[in-house]
Amino acid sequence: MLHKRLSLGALVLLTAQLAACLAMDMMYSSTPWYDSSEEDEGSFEQKAVNHIENSMEAMNAKLDGYRDLVRDLARQTMLLHFAMEERVRSDGDSGVKIIRGGNKGPENYYENGAVGNSFNTIHDHSNYDRTVGMGEVVVVLNGVEFRTRHNDYKLKMPSTTSTEFHATEDIPFPDVPPAVTNLDSVDEQIVEMREWFKAFATQNTTHRDYREFFKPIMCYMEGAWTLDKELSEPFESDRHQIDASSWFELQDLVRYASYTGTKSRLENFAYLPTTIMSVNETTGKQFTFISKYVAMDDLAYQVPRKRSKEDTRFTRAARFRIYEEAKEKMCTKKRLKFTKYSKIDRLFYKIPGKDNIPATNLSQASFGEDMFSLESKGNTKLKSGYYHRWFRFAKAGAMGLKSVSRGYNDANMWVAQTTQKRVAPIGLKHCTKKRVMVNGRWKRRKVCEMMYERFSYAIPLEIIYLTPLLSWNPYNIETGKVCTHTTND
Ligand SMILES: *[C@@H]1O[C@H](CO)[C@@H](O)[C@H](O)[C@H]1NC(C)=O
Ligand SMILES: *[C@@H]1O[C@H](CO)[C@@H](O)[C@H](O)[C@H]1NC(C)=O
Ligand SMILES: *[C@@H]1O[C@H](CO)[C@@H](O)[C@H](O)[C@H]1NC(C)=O
Repeated sequence: MLHKRLSLGALVLLTAQLAACLAMDMMYSSTPWYDSSEEDEGSFEQKAVNHIENSMEAMNAKLDGYRDLVRDLARQTMLLHFAMEERVRSDGDSGVKIIRGGNKGPENYYENGAVGNSFNTIHDHSNYDRTVGMGEVVVVLNGVEFRTRHNDYKLKMPSTTSTEFHATEDIPFPDVPPAVTNLDSVDEQIVEMREWFKAFATQNTTHRDYREFFKPIMCYMEGAWTLDKELSEPFESDRHQIDASSWFELQDLVRYASYTGTKSRLENFAYLPTTIMSVNETTGKQFTFISKYVAMDDLAYQVPRKRSKEDTRFTRAARFRIYEEAKEKMCTKKRLKFTKYSKIDRLFYKIPGKDNIPATNLSQASFGEDMFSLESKGNTKLKSGYYHRWFRFAKAGAMGLKSVSRGYNDANMWVAQTTQKRVAPIGLKHCTKKRVMVNGRWKRRKVCEMMYERFSYAIPLEIIYLTPLLSWNPYNIETGKVCTHTTND
C-alpha cells in the first residue's frame, strides 16, 4: 500500500520507480491508466496515486493466482514422475535392464538383452591405464531408469580420507610374486609367471599360493538424485566424456537420438532423467538430476548362475550370481536356499555411500524407530552410511516380521545414506509425544519436526580379479607421466 499523503516530490520519485510496473500492467489492460473524462475528482497527483494502488492490487492478485498455478503444476509434475517410478519399481528389480541392440533374428534369443557379444557390453581395454571396458547400458536404480554413456570406467575406489563429493583413490594393485622378480632374465620371469597364472586358473594353491597376488574386487554402479544445475562428469574415464555442456543440451541430444533412432558413433551421450524433488510453497520448485558413478571394493566368493554352461563360463558372456549354499549337514545334496543377509551383503556393507570411507557414523531411523544391522544377532545399530539391503527393527511389525529388505520388493537395491549437500534431500514430518513446559507446567504434547535425509543407491556390476601383470614391468619402462602434448586432429 502506498501512503496516501505524499508530497509532490516524493510522488514523482515513486512514479519513476513504478514506471516499469505500470507499463507492464498497461500491456495487459486496455483501459488507460488515467481517464481524462473523470474531471474535477481530486488532483492529478491523487488520481495517479489511486490508480497505482489499484493497479498494484490487481497485479498482486494476478501474481497470487499464477503462483498457486505454478505450485500446483510443479507438484503434479513431481507426482507424475513419482507415479512412473512406482510403476517401474514393481515391474522388476534394480539392475542392468538392457544393452544396445546389435543382432536381429527369428527368435527373441537372437537379440540382445543384457548379453550380446558379452555381458553388460564389457570388453578389453588393457591398452589404457586402469581402464575397464564397458559400453552403454540401460539401468534401473530404485525405480529410476536411465541410460549411461559408454562407461569405460577406471579402477578407483571411494576416498579413505576425504568426504568430498566423488573423491576417489586408485585401487592398489597386487604385487608381483618375488619368485618372479627374483629371477634374473626376463625370459625366466615369463616362464615363472605362467606357473602363477596356471595355479590361479586351476585354483591350485599347492602349485603356487597365488591368493595374495590375484585379488578380486567388486565393481558397482551408484546413483543418486543431485541438486547440481551444472553438468558434471559423474565418473572418470580416459576415453569417454559426456558430449554436452549442460543438462538441457544433453537432454536435447538424447531426445533427438531417441526420436530419430540414430546414435552418436562415439557413444558419449547419457540419458539422465530429471525430476522435481520438492515443491516449496513459497519459493517454487527445485530441479534435481540423477548422476552415476562407478567404484570398487574387495570380494572373495562367486558361483555360476545356472544358465552358465561350460563353454560360456570362460567367455565375457558368463553371468554370475552370488549366493550362499545350504549348510552341508542340513541337507543331503547341494541345493540353493533362501538367503537374507548373505555374502554379497557383507561385501557391500564395506562400501561407503557418497560420504566415502570417513563417514562411518551415519544412522537412520525408520519412521522414528531405530534400525539395526542384520550382520549379527544382537542389536547392532545399522551403519546407514554403508550400502545395505537389509535392516531389522527391535520389535516385530504388523506381519510378525522384524527384518526388512530395502525397497518394497527389490532383489538388488543397496542403499546408503549421505550428508552430501549436492544430493537431493527428502523430507519427512516426524511427530513424537514429548514432555514440554506449557505455562510453567510439564505437559505431554505432540511435537513435530521436519527431518531431511539423503540417499544413494547401488547395484553390483562385476567382479574383477587383479593380477600381478598390472604392476609387472620387467623392462622398467617409464610410466606415470601425464600426457600434456596433444594435436588438433
Ligand atoms: C596342484 O599342484 C601340485 C603341485 O604342482 C600338483 O602336484 C597337483 O597335482 C595339482 N593339483 C591339481 C588338482 O591339479
Ligand atoms: C521455502 O523456501 C524458503 C526460502 O528458501 C524457506 O525459508 C522455507 O523454509 C521453505 N519452506 C519449506 C516448507 O521448506
Ligand atoms: C560417531 O558418533 C559418536 C556418537 O555420536 C561420536 O562420539 C563420535 O565422535 C562420532 N565419530 C565420528 C568420526 O564422527
